[in-house]
Amino acid sequence: MADNSTNFLTNFMASWQVARIYETSHPKFVESLEKAYKSLGSLLELQNEVVIGVVGEELTSGKEIFFELSKKMQLAIGHLKSIGVERIIFNKGVTKDEIVKLISFIITPTENLKLEPQNYLLNLGVKNIEVGKIKDFGQGHYVAAVRGINKIGHYEDCLDKLSDSIISLIDDNTVDGHNFTFISNNIMENLIGSYQEFFKLKEIKSHDMATFMHILNVSILSIYFASKLGFSKEDCLSVGLAGLFHDIGKLYIGRRIIQKTGKLDEREFGEIKSHTVLGAEILLRHVDKLTILPVVVAFEHHLDYDLGGYPKVYFVRNLHIATLIVSICDVYDALMQRRSYKNDYPPEMIYNIMMRGKDTKFSAQLLNKFFRIMGIWPRGTIVCLEDERIAIVREVNEEAIFSPAVEVISERSRRIIDLNKKKNIKIKRALNPLKEGKKYLELI
Ligand SMILES: [Fe+2]
Ligand SMILES: [Fe+2]
Repeated sequence: MADNSTNFLTNFMASWQVARIYETSHPKFVESLEKAYKSLGSLLELQNEVVIGVVGEELTSGKEIFFELSKKMQLAIGHLKSIGVERIIFNKGVTKDEIVKLISFIITPTENLKLEPQNYLLNLGVKNIEVGKIKDFGQGHYVAAVRGINKIGHYEDCLDKLSDSIISLIDDNTVDGHNFTFISNNIMENLIGSYQEFFKLKEIKSHDMATFMHILNVSILSIYFASKLGFSKEDCLSVGLAGLFHDIGKLYIGRRIIQKTGKLDEREFGEIKSHTVLGAEILLRHVDKLTILPVVVAFEHHLDYDLGGYPKVYFVRNLHIATLIVSICDVYDALMQRRSYKNDYPPEMIYNIMMRGKDTKFSAQLLNKFFRIMGIWPRGTIVCLEDERIAIVREVNEEAIFSPAVEVISERSRRIIDLNKKKNIKIKRALNPLKEGKKYLELI
């Protein structure tokens, strides 16, 4: 056993060293990771968890202390301690990808780590590796609490980071690229596909917060949509990043105008429209950190598919695919937000409003695909059936968007009905989650 542990520790430390020099996609790293993963696998065949500990200046595993190896790894040991990691537990079921994330976390400069190590890893979707100080372990409630971080927590975390980062962009013209990467990763790992859940927390405190929530929602939706369209992970993240910045220009426009509920006069409307060009100009200064895509999307997102929107362009151009995706998600979220505040935009109406814009405002092909993915009533929507029973939409039927699978909740025993198979049962209307649907929210 000791030999196996030595093997694993040596291989794990080796991949860590390699990762300090090469990207994690480099064949050298892939090869060293393979070795570490294999040796971990053979240990996990015999036990449920493998523990690496740092005790004083030494590396340990189980009851073994690895004096020789520790001498060579002093730098690494010091770094682990400085980021608050005295023990790493690999649980059965750990994946290669999780080890890559652990290693990337370990080599991240300390000043960029703004979360507790365990929270940081959880945010990246790592569930089978536990890290922390030695005293943290063995306190069951601690680990359970950390594991229990829910999606709402992730969403709020993203929202905080997003508002901090955007405010520093606006106030000091500085971009924290690491924070934005963190947000898009967090969306990808934890929030993708769960857009609907966040309508529960619509306690909007300020005008800016409403804008931050909108841009975060648009980003979540855009990443989800792009992934369903078959985009690679990298491309999904780029689209999500562009989604995060599409309305940045709005944060520069006077609040009086943005918050005005009455009709805008021509000058005010012109000022609102300027958020596209303004946003692009701001983002253009940060192309080195953010790439050119956010600039393109900020500029184009109100241009419309037929170029009939704004700003006026004097040459024919095809909109970037990222713009086509973000602009659908943008309008959809704006309409859904209205629905949360008032009771005047049921999902079926949102569908009809958006469908009216096909081929003019939106690419018809993408719009059809969008509703095939989201359904008319997205997952988690509380609906009233034609026979007055209350149900929650559980699964969207891509081939029959008006007939999702629903869970009936107004009967003693809850049960799932696939409306695509029971053609005689239809959805009558959606209940507003903040009004008559509120009492069913816990059941979602
Ligand atoms: Fe906009
Ligand atoms: Fe927007």
